[in-house]
Amino acid sequence: MSRRIAASLLVLATLIAAVIASNAGWDSASAHALLARADPPINAALRESPTRITLFMTEQLQRSHSSVQVLDSSGQRRDIGETEFSDEVPTQMNVRVLKLDPGVYTVVWETLSEVDGHTWTGSYVFSVLNPDGSAPAGSGVEIDFSRPGPPVAADAVVKAIGLVALVLFVGAVFISVLLRPSPIATLLPLMAASVVVAIVATGYESIAAALRLGDIGFLGDVLFDTRNGLWLQQRWYALIVAAIALSVFLIRPALIRERQMLTILGLVGIVWLASSSAISHGAAIGSGWIWGTLFDALHLSAAALWIGGLVNLIIAIRANPQNRIAAVRRFSVAAALSAPVLLAAGLLSALIQIPNFNGLVDTDWGAAFLVKLVILIALFVAAAGNAFLLRPRDEAADGADLQLVKRFGRLMRIEAALGLAVIGASAVLTQLPSPLSAQPEVEQKDNTVVETVARGEVIASLEISPNLVGFNTWTATISGTQDNPVEALLLRFRYADRSVGPVTVATTEIGEDQFQLEGAYFGLPGSWTVEMELRRVSGDDLVAAVQVDVESGFQASPFAADSGGALSLPLSQMDWNGIGALWAFVIGGLAWLNRPRIRRTWGPRGGDAALVSGLLGLIVALVLLTGLHVEPGRTLANPVELTAESVSNGAALFAANCASCHGDTGAGDGPLADSLPAPPANFTVHVPFHPDGVLYAWISDGIRGTGMPAWSPQLSDQERWDLVNFLRANFDLAAAQ
Ligand code: HEC
Repeated sequence: MSRRIAASLLVLATLIAAVIASNAGWDSASAHALLARADPPINAALRESPTRITLFMTEQLQRSHSSVQVLDSSGQRRDIGETEFSDEVPTQMNVRVLKLDPGVYTVVWETLSEVDGHTWTGSYVFSVLNPDGSAPAGSGVEIDFSRPGPPVAADAVVKAIGLVALVLFVGAVFISVLLRPSPIATLLPLMAASVVVAIVATGYESIAAALRLGDIGFLGDVLFDTRNGLWLQQRWYALIVAAIALSVFLIRPALIRERQMLTILGLVGIVWLASSSAISHGAAIGSGWIWGTLFDALHLSAAALWIGGLVNLIIAIRANPQNRIAAVRRFSVAAALSAPVLLAAGLLSALIQIPNFNGLVDTDWGAAFLVKLVILIALFVAAAGNAFLLRPRDEAADGADLQLVKRFGRLMRIEAALGLAVIGASAVLTQLPSPLSAQPEVEQKDNTVVETVARGEVIASLEISPNLVGFNTWTATISGTQDNPVEALLLRFRYADRSVGPVTVATTEIGEDQFQLEGAYFGLPGSWTVEMELRRVSGDDLVAAVQVDVESGFQASPFAADSGGALSLPLSQMDWNGIGALWAFVIGGLAWLNRPRIRRTWGPRGGDAALVSGLLGLIVALVLLTGLHVEPGRTLANPVELTAESVSNGAALFAANCASCHGDTGAGDGPLADSLPAPPANFTVHVPFHPDGVLYAWISDGIRGTGMPAWSPQLSDQERWDLVNFLRANFDLAAAQ
């Protein structure tokens, strides 16, 4: 491409980009918020109408374009009011429903991901059983989605082109900085072409996303309302800056010095890299997104330096063959540093996405990932051939063996082509729903039983659901008490083994002669006796006992924390800060150890750079280890005043939901404690050290890897703060005084 053509293309692209940007009438889009789980669950058969349908999606939701509807068998809407969202759980949306008669209901959802901007739609069915427990008539309705669903193949192609442009651009800047003399003049046309292509690709992504939402009119609100849109804007502006700088440099080289030019282009490259990582799948996972983003950024940067650098190296060598051996030597160090970073960061971010082995073999994402892996292996083989066989021999022969030079050149081109193919496969990956979201729901065990006992006239039946260790609902229905109605019903839980003392709890009256209790009173697997104590208006209280076998249901706990999946944390004992710190240590350490080698090839400046990066790695590692990160909830203020009422609400909630693990006295010795990976901490010791917001965050979201469940689905905000107040009042002696 001649200078003049490149310059005019750039000017044209800049003009178009600027016009579009000034209209601000465009939008963008690129993660998918898919259904992770639902309450009531997919295909659930319910005995009673739910009051609310809650969906947990895989990514943060953009509120104005995400919604839930509930349709009955005839397609009539049964939801009321707007779809509601949760501030604490940005991946959750819910809607209230009218009282649902027995029947089959279809839940229809639409989402726009806050992170990657993809729109998605889906539906699932649940049913409300007849009063006698039999399956209802009717069926789910077929949904004609108004929005197109998954992105089309064209999107993946555009994404691939955009990624290749990014990698080539960053590689060109890198090679221009790395080689002496700088080959910037040779590489300018490629940089210009990458920028033009990226402007077009970014424009396409934005417009396609708007069309997917309905029409072009949606460009504005998504662009300015979603995280994805904000990042695309940044990329857009950076590209405009690059286009202007390149045009000036091509038309009037005297105006900008080479160094200034490279600084500007380098900054553009960084913004461009950041804008791509910030809207990746890695950025979209719930907790740990900072590290997901970081790994993606590392991965992409390493790919750009290595693959993009290699392509540009080949172009630079062709233009200036005399400099070949020195150029290849300088580059090979960079490639050798990038390759392990690329591999390790890529594997880590893949582990975040892959919840288990099935996620790898059963999903499209997994298939694309395996394809990528195969090409990647070929790439590493070619790279190893170049680095360990051809380059040393070429250098030893000082470039005199022409046959060898030719072979080396060919294998370098193969390496570059494989690298670009890997990038293409990666683009496909970004467009597919990650296996995190494609996972079927955990099969929920259900051992629900109904036991009936008669005491003279009075018949008491007790339904226990799901009748597993952990959280259960006990519903008692009493009949035959016309002359002497029941005014209260207590449940007493006795474990077969007398070492566990009985617990007596009052139930709530939910209907005429119907009483209900929810909580985690089955602390252990085995035989439990549940005594119903019927308090009656004119005395003559009755006790009717039923005996049930309770299995361990801990795995199927209805409140499993919203975790990223089994593999989401590579080492379960290490949190994201630990992993980040380990990383910084390893990279810093490698740079430090390789100083002599780096100094030899890159000269004293290179040696200094390695020294600085080694030290930097160490500092980053230390900062991360000492916990620079803000603990979730640290800055959250308690909106509920610590009153006697709040504390007593909290106490009741604690007895019902928490004492089974934490023990009545908060010592961590509840009956369920032994079944946990580690017993709960003693509150008297721990609570004083943590501010309210942190306790609240733990109660709401659970504590990963410990068995402490997330309570945000079950307990309201108010209830969770009441619990915090209860903990503060009872276990923080200083605060209680
Ligand atoms: C299934 C068992 C279980 C239940 C039920 C349970 N927890 Fe926990 N909880 C744990 C475990 C295990 C831990 C982690 C112990 C640790 O590392 O401190 C924990 C930790 C906590 C912590 C942090 C303690 C600290 O300072 O480290 C708080 C606060 C807490 N739970 C509150 C509650 C509340 C409130 C409830 C009831 C709504 C509840 N838990 C129900 C098992 C449970």
